Amino acid sequence: MTQRTATALRYDDGQLSILDQRALPAERLWVAVESTEHLVQLIQSLAIRGAPLIGIAAVLYLAVLARKGEPAPALKIASQALRESRPTAVNLMNLLDRINPVLDQGAAEVEAMALALFDEDVQLCDKIAEAGLPLVKNGARILTHCNTGGLPTAGRGTALGIITRAQEAGLTPFVWVDETRPLWQGARLTAYELQQAGVAHRLQVDSAAASLFASGQVDLVLVGADRIAANGDTANKVGTLMLAVLARHYGVPFYVAAPWTTVDPACPGGHAIPIEERSAEEICQLGDRQLAPQGTTTYNPGFDVTPATLISGWVTDRGLITEAAAFHHS
Ligand code: MRU
Repeated sequence: MTQRTATALRYDDGQLSILDQRALPAERLWVAVESTEHLVQLIQSLAIRGAPLIGIAAVLYLAVLARKGEPAPALKIASQALRESRPTAVNLMNLLDRINPVLDQGAAEVEAMALALFDEDVQLCDKIAEAGLPLVKNGARILTHCNTGGLPTAGRGTALGIITRAQEAGLTPFVWVDETRPLWQGARLTAYELQQAGVAHRLQVDSAAASLFASGQVDLVLVGADRIAANGDTANKVGTLMLAVLARHYGVPFYVAAPWTTVDPACPGGHAIPIEERSAEEICQLGDRQLAPQGTTTYNPGFDVTPATLISGWVTDRGLITEAAAFHHS
């Protein structure tokens, strides 16, 4: 079988399409990936996004090229271009590292590896959901940031996968959804996924988080990750660090949910995680409307790093990790 379907990606016998996440929730726009440069542009513009899914899309596109008869050297050039498309999420590099050795073994091998990596991600998500379930008490009020469900993975998601699993288990979780500036992954995508899953939630601006903690309305913070360093320091969407600081101040548990494909044992600590700096337009403009004066200089990191000392634990496909030493050798 050479078809695979995820919430936001389809592979169909040598063709790859993605659901343009920029258009959600207003429109469900499927886009056929036409070239490596096109996929790089779709990744950089966040049409396709989320640490696991950009890795899956990259390896599946190498399968597309292999099926078209592209020779191994061309596949290696494409692999390198995809690797450089976004710097922070290590899943992209990890998955390319796993497919690179088979790029000169023929199209069937390349496709088989890409499909295996897709299937693996589905399973990793299921395992994370099971490992995280015991953290969710009946009626827990959970604060989350960015979007970590079916849209950015091949499966049911990471942090959001735990929440929907808890809903299935009858635990009626309630979710505080950070809107997630500047690109509203929380408002546009997490609220959409929670609505579809029938999970009770409320949306708030990111800066309302402190008052939620102060008024005792958060029982648990659950977020995803883009890279976990060998010492447990964790990069995730910008705004995550302030939640971790708040959680520590107000005595609320703060958990990261991520598959082992997000772990980078070669990266010693948060200081060594490359952080994507994004364009000024993302914060100076709203669609066609100019918000800040023309020429305003900006600080627009896509991610921040939460030190391991602020993290209660990491919910992974290998179970709940509470000692960062587990990431040293993996
Ligand atoms: O810039 P994005 O939208 O790709 O950032 C995504 C996140 O930060 C997610 O939390 C992370 O990739 C995990 S997705 C399961």
